[in-house]
Amino acid sequence: MSSLRFSILVAGLAGLAVGYSDTAWKRQTNSTGSPCASVSYLASSQTAASPSATATVPAKLAYECINSVPLNVSAALDLIETVKPYWEWQSTIAYLKNPPAEYVEKIQDPVDVFGELDIIEAKVKNGSFASEYESTHDGHFVYVPDSVGGIFNFGRTLPLVSVSLDGKSLPQPYAYPDILETSLGNASFTPSPTVKIDGESSTAWLENWSQYGSLQDRDALYNNVFYELAIVALGTSSAGMGTFTGGGRGRWIYPGETTTLQFENGTSVVLKNFAKVLTDFTGIDSGEALSKNTTSTPAPGYPTPVIRQQNNLIGGYYLDGEDYADIAVLSVPSFVGSSNAEESFQATGQTFLAEAVAAGKTKLIIDLSANGGGTILQGYDLFKQLFPSIDAFAAADRTRAFEAIDLVGQSFSAISGSVPRTLDWGNNETLEALEENIISSNFNYRTDERPDGKPFSSWAEKYGPYEFNGDEFSGLFRWNLSDVLTPINSGGIQIQGYGGYRTNLTQPFATENIVVLTDGYCASTCTIFSRLMTDLAGVRYVAMGGRSTSGITQAIGGVKGTNDLGWDYVQYLVSLVYENANATQKAYYNTTSLADYNDQIPFLRAANDTAYNINFRDGIKLDDFEGQTPLQFVYEPADCRIYWTPGMTVDISSAWKAVADSAWGASDWCVAGSLKTNSTIRTLATVAGRYSRPAVVQSVPIRQRAKREDYPLGLYTDLRGQNLKKKGYMVP
Ligand SMILES: *[C@@H]1O[C@H](CO)[C@@H](O)[C@H](O)[C@H]1NC(C)=O
Ligand SMILES: *[C@@H]1O[C@H](CO)[C@@H](O)[C@H](O)[C@H]1NC(C)=O
Ligand SMILES: *[C@@H]1O[C@H](CO)[C@@H](O)[C@H](O)[C@H]1NC(C)=O
Ligand SMILES: *[C@@H]1O[C@H](CO)[C@@H](O)[C@H](O)[C@H]1NC(C)=O
Ligand SMILES: *[C@@H]1O[C@H](CO)[C@@H](O)[C@H](O)[C@H]1NC(C)=O
Ligand SMILES: *[C@@H]1O[C@H](CO)[C@@H](O)[C@H](O)[C@H]1NC(C)=O
Ligand SMILES: *[C@@H]1O[C@H](CO)[C@@H](O)[C@H](O)[C@H]1NC(C)=O
Ligand SMILES: *[C@@H]1O[C@H](CO)[C@@H](O)[C@H](O)[C@H]1NC(C)=O
Ligand SMILES: *[C@@H]1O[C@H](CO)[C@@H](O)[C@H](O)[C@H]1NC(C)=O
Ligand SMILES: *[C@@H]1O[C@H](CO)[C@@H](O)[C@H](O)[C@H]1NC(C)=O
Ligand SMILES: *[C@@H]1O[C@H](CO)[C@@H](O)[C@H](O)[C@H]1NC(C)=O
Ligand SMILES: *[C@@H]1O[C@H](CO)[C@@H](O)[C@H](O)[C@H]1NC(C)=O
Repeated sequence: MSSLRFSILVAGLAGLAVGYSDTAWKRQTNSTGSPCASVSYLASSQTAASPSATATVPAKLAYECINSVPLNVSAALDLIETVKPYWEWQSTIAYLKNPPAEYVEKIQDPVDVFGELDIIEAKVKNGSFASEYESTHDGHFVYVPDSVGGIFNFGRTLPLVSVSLDGKSLPQPYAYPDILETSLGNASFTPSPTVKIDGESSTAWLENWSQYGSLQDRDALYNNVFYELAIVALGTSSAGMGTFTGGGRGRWIYPGETTTLQFENGTSVVLKNFAKVLTDFTGIDSGEALSKNTTSTPAPGYPTPVIRQQNNLIGGYYLDGEDYADIAVLSVPSFVGSSNAEESFQATGQTFLAEAVAAGKTKLIIDLSANGGGTILQGYDLFKQLFPSIDAFAAADRTRAFEAIDLVGQSFSAISGSVPRTLDWGNNETLEALEENIISSNFNYRTDERPDGKPFSSWAEKYGPYEFNGDEFSGLFRWNLSDVLTPINSGGIQIQGYGGYRTNLTQPFATENIVVLTDGYCASTCTIFSRLMTDLAGVRYVAMGGRSTSGITQAIGGVKGTNDLGWDYVQYLVSLVYENANATQKAYYNTTSLADYNDQIPFLRAANDTAYNINFRDGIKLDDFEGQTPLQFVYEPADCRIYWTPGMTVDISSAWKAVADSAWGASDWCVAGSLKTNSTIRTLATVAGRYSRPAVVQSVPIRQRAKREDYPLGLYTDLRGQNLKKKGYMVP
């Protein structure tokens, strides 16, 4: 297993150590007969023929090209040295190395991040460098050097799904076009499951491959291998058609020259794997404009919305069929991940919830599938829209405590002391910049509150430090949701119920009438929202899909850190400290670790359109202030697990109906756990006639409009033009 474990960051260094560079490649010509020359020739002839297309070349050729350039030892060592200061900001370094036993048993193995880096450094120095792959499985911890993510993205052409034909037997992998053909086409054949991949048991092979993903939970990672409607509805800013096809972080992994699928009926297919050539492309590919701001993003397999945000970040739906007449569905695959749609996101939720209640809907299903997070305060706001009377505090935050953080905090807190805390947009640019950059920052101790809701009295009180698990951490703190500067941290919105904003709303749905489903890809802000929903309101969660196993799984399988920071933002913080210092202070800072941030190498070497982030804040449960284990390392089973069926991979409302049936109907799709409560069982008794009908599994309710052609089979992750600096967002 360990040979397959992978860190984008560490592997990135491995890639860099290969010494490959864009300019080196461009200098190559095919007169040398080198693999890079062949790539160049193939790519240029494709772009000559079709200038708007992204060139693709055989995966093997791209891989040989990358590996054909000799190691530049000094460049590799420079990069290793200059990334270290940023890694210090990663809140979970000590816990990754020494995790709780339950994390090791049920989630992932330990990783000694700095230890791994030391080994790579030693190998680079002694000339025995060979790729070393390790994973942190923290979606907030990412760095992709140009050599890995800047030249090629790898892929496979055939998307798969993992489904259970009857919703009860173990799921098996199928070719998605087969499922589409049998669901929506005229096909009379019965799709045959993939039993082997490259000669190995397919489920074992896929579990290993899934480990290249960004999530920590193994069932969530497994789901992310496959084609999924919620992900497709996010367009090119998502994990595409799943990591098997090179979506999400699968795009950085060499998939081999070919991949052989063997089906149960004895047939085999050999897929020729490819690499997309990222340099010099001017056009757009099949994922064309799917996620672009001005364009409405299609959502194949979704019913007609009551209301939706144009990029499907949030949308409201009703279910057809008399049995489901009282049910509303709020689909939330993002908390405004990579765009700037905070206001329309909030307004869509507000409008839909009010309309649903007005339309007589009494039950609400919330679908968080594919939700990599986004604007943190949007998660708080949506919770307050659902539970206006509950104070939205379910977990405290903390950061690592070390010199650089202490110095930034001292500086920002001192500067802020002499300026009034007012929101003053449009009047005084100097003040505005100060408010945005420094006063509203979490490094000004006045921005947050202590867990008891009282203000901190000084930076020293907030900073601590306190020792846990052999590392040092700040004191615990919580958001001050009533803060006058909230709009600066929220993308412009006020939080429902705080600071005088919409304080008079009533709860739209009773707790037992709300159920949330996820595909495990619930990360970052999605986990913050979920913590509020589960721990404070007691809302039940369904985990969809997962590995080909029985038993309960986690619904929240993505990074549970409560805030990430870009490395460039970290560097900017340091630059602000210098900017606001006098000569004496600057000289002093030059003797501290702040001087280590004065190097552009990590940024110059980062691949275009990739993020460079660390997880900055841990979330700590309210009942764990003594032990303070970061939630990232806590295993939390869902209330119920439901397998994907073929129909659910073509029509998402089939999944919503299965959840409704299991929570409030007579049939129960949970293969583990249960959604029934005493009150819903009572409700059930009174409406038993209405809900009692056999579960129809295989026949897909085909909407008139649904056509095979609606489902993109060439959708690949493409983050060009996206904002990758959202705090509280796990970049795919
Ligand atoms: C590469 O080789 C092809 C065929 O051998 C030739 O037509 C082409 O001009 C060459 N291109 C370059 C850039 O040398
Ligand atoms: C290796 O990298 C260094 C920068 O660290 C650069 O100055 C040097 O030119 C590179 N050497 C080669 C052979 O590209
Ligand atoms: C190089 O360093 C690595 C890591 O310390 C070590 O495992 C390896 O044996 C060394 N190889 C040589 C040839 O010295
Ligand atoms: C089904 O077959 C009929 C007759 O061959 C054809 O006209 C129709 O387009 C087919 N439908 C689909 C969805 O392939
Ligand atoms: C076997 O199953 C595969 C996958 O469903 C299908 O593409 C193929 O046509 C089938 N072959 C036969 C001979 O039925
Ligand atoms: C990366 O982005 C920069 C700035 O947009 C551009 O000049 C450069 O060509 C890009 N590099 C690649 C490899 O696409
Ligand atoms: C769309 O672009 C406009 C400017 O072109 C910008 O003001 C707006 O914030 C963008 N919206 C989204 C959702 O990205
Ligand atoms: C603008 O704000 C700054 C910072 O508080 C202050 O020093 C300056 O006097 C203000 N300028 C005006 C014109 O009010
Ligand atoms: C809440 O207050 C607003 C503004 O004061 C008012 O327009 C609205 O009708 C009130 N809503 C309820 C449910 O009382
Ligand atoms: C520099 O700033 C520090 C902190 O505000 C102050 O104590 C010190 O007197 C200043 N030194 C000079 C030379 O202005
Ligand atoms: C601090 O270090 C930087 C970078 O080496 C240098 O440019 C600057 O002059 C130094 N500042 C002081 C006050 O020593
Ligand atoms: C249902 O009611 C029984 C008896 O009142 C109680 O013991 C049980 O805990 C309840 N279960 C739930 C899920 O509330």
